[in-house]
Formats: sequence, C-alpha cells, structure tokens
Amino acid sequence: MKNRINQLLQQVQDMQATNAEELENLRIKYLSKKGEITALFGDFRNVAADEKKEIGMLLNNLKLQAQSRIDELKEQVAARTQQEEKQDLTRTPDPIALGTRHPLSLVREEIIDIFSHIGFTVAEGPEIEDDLHVFGMLNFAPEHPARDMQDTFFINKEKGIQKPTDILLRTHTSSVQTRVMTSQKPPIRVLCPGRVYRNEAISARAHCFFHQIEGLYIDKNVSFADLRQAMLYFAKEMFGPDTKIRLRPSYFPFTEPSAEMDISCNICGGKGCSFCKNTGWVEILGCGMVDPNVLESCGIDSTIYSGYAFGLGVERITNLKYRVKDLRLFSENDVRFLTQFESC
Ligand code: DAH
Repeated sequence: MKNRINQLLQQVQDMQATNAEELENLRIKYLSKKGEITALFGDFRNVAADEKKEIGMLLNNLKLQAQSRIDELKEQVAARTQQEEKQDLTRTPDPIALGTRHPLSLVREEIIDIFSHIGFTVAEGPEIEDDLHVFGMLNFAPEHPARDMQDTFFINKEKGIQKPTDILLRTHTSSVQTRVMTSQKPPIRVLCPGRVYRNEAISARAHCFFHQIEGLYIDKNVSFADLRQAMLYFAKEMFGPDTKIRLRPSYFPFTEPSAEMDISCNICGGKGCSFCKNTGWVEILGCGMVDPNVLESCGIDSTIYSGYAFGLGVERITNLKYRVKDLRLFSENDVRFLTQFESC
C-alpha cells in the first residue's frame, strides 16, 4: 500500500496539462469516483490496524497533493487560454518586408513621366507581330538584313519566302507606330514602351530580349527643330540641366533624315573617361523625321502631315543612370540586386 501511495504521489507531482480537456482527464484518472486515489481509500479498510494511522496520513496527503496540483494546472491553463485569445492570429508576421520596383520599371516610368509633361500619352502593341507591321510598313526593303533569321525570331515562316503575314516576335517597338498610325488620326503624340526580341547570344552586353520606348509625334508642320528641342528637353530632365546633346547623321529605313543622339557623358561630365571611351559623349537613342513612305503606308497624307520619331533602349538609359555593368542582372530576379533600387 505504501509503495502504491508513493508511486501515485510521484505521478501526481509530475502531472502536466496544456488545455482544459487534458486537465479533466487527469482529474478523472486520479480523483473521480473511479479514480486511482479514490480506489485506494476503498482499500484502506483492509489495512492492518497498527498501520492505519500512518497509511491514513499518507493517503490524505496524497489526495491533498493531487487536488492542489490540479488547481495549480487549472490556473496555468486559464492564463494560457487568456493569452491566446488576446493574440490576433490574422496579423501578418513581423517584419513585413516591402518589395522594390524593378530598375527597368523605375526608369521606364521616369521617361514616360518626362514626356507626359509635353503632351505624350502611352500606346501599346502586341509582342507577337507580323512582318508587315514590324518591317513592311516601316519601309524595310524585302532583303533588308534586319529581316534575317539571324536577328529575328520567326514563329511561322516558309523557308526563303518573305511574306507580310509571317508571324514573328517584334524586334523593335517601332511596330507600335504603325499600329497607332493606322488606328488614329493626327495629331498623334505617343510613347510606346515594351519588350522586344532579337536572336542574340546572351552575354553581359547583349540579350535575346530587352526593352525599348518608341516616341512618335505627327502633326502639321512638325520639323527637325521640334525633334531636337524635344530631345534636349528629355536629356536635361533625365540626366541633369547641364547635359548637352549631339545629333549625328545615321540611317533607319523609317526615318529621313535619321540621326543618332549622344549626350555629354554623365559620368565624367564630358571630359573623357573609360565609360565614354574618352570621347566625352555616349549614344542614347536613334531618331529622325518619319519617312513619307511610312506615313503613306499607314494612310496618312504626307503632303499635309509630317512627324518625328525616336527609339531608345531602357536598359541603356538604366545603365547610364545606375551603372549596371551586366545586362543579365536585369532578368535574373536576384533580390540582392533588385533591393538596391529604391522604390519611388
Ligand atoms: N527601331 C530602332 C531600333 O530598334 C530605334 C529607332 C531609331 C526608332 C530611330 C526610331 C527612330 O523611331 O526614329 O534600333
């Protein structure tokens, strides 16, 4: 009997409960009518008379200990339940890490914002295009090398035969010009941002997809001076008020005359450094007066209207602004790179 009492005393002292149900089970196990301690009281009548006093004391002590351990556990369970009720389980865990905008998105938005102040709105067109809108209506001769499979990702094309209905991934956002000009009447003043694709091997300096923004302005009496002024305004807004521009003659099938535009190197301020290859200038975009052939192919009367267009690479501008040396970083989604750009 004594041994059994000691055993139970040990068990009672070790009792643990994390909720009300476990606690109730303990009470039933030891103290209910059929409980183990209650059962010992039943056996008490069989204890020898000379032991009754001692065993009786031990038994009473066991019962008291059990009751007080259960009371103690009851308090613990109540405190815990109250604590849990206070917790708001719908709250997002801390700390809440805020994402950052992709650098290309930041720069694209900045460019759109700059041009919106001089009346440009945004137009978009499909990335999967046909030959007609990417090349044909933009005055590309049938055998122009840009149409070559080496540069262009064709989706369906009969070998060797050139058709306006060939489906391809657009190689430049100039294709959106043709979509806008055939669906809107002048005056037209749009920016066409988007992704473009070229069949290039991926390296630090080239990628098979990148981003451009095309600009187009068509109205009566638009002149080259308007183009130059708009480009100077953009360069100063984007790279600072001391920025100078320089236009060099160039060739694009869809503009005549055409030019490439340089800005004074914003790294050395025009003195010459390794970035500008000691010339003091860096090229940032292509531009020109929309070729009358392009206007006519889009149904715009070139004897009444004229216009200018320009096309810039978002990666190029982003590199100039943030000095990103490897183009691949833009598409790898490495958060160590992305979180370096502050969201505006
Ligand atoms: N589409 C040309 C390219 O991808 C860029 C360009 C040059 C666009 C001159 C123009 C332009 O609108 O006038 O290289």
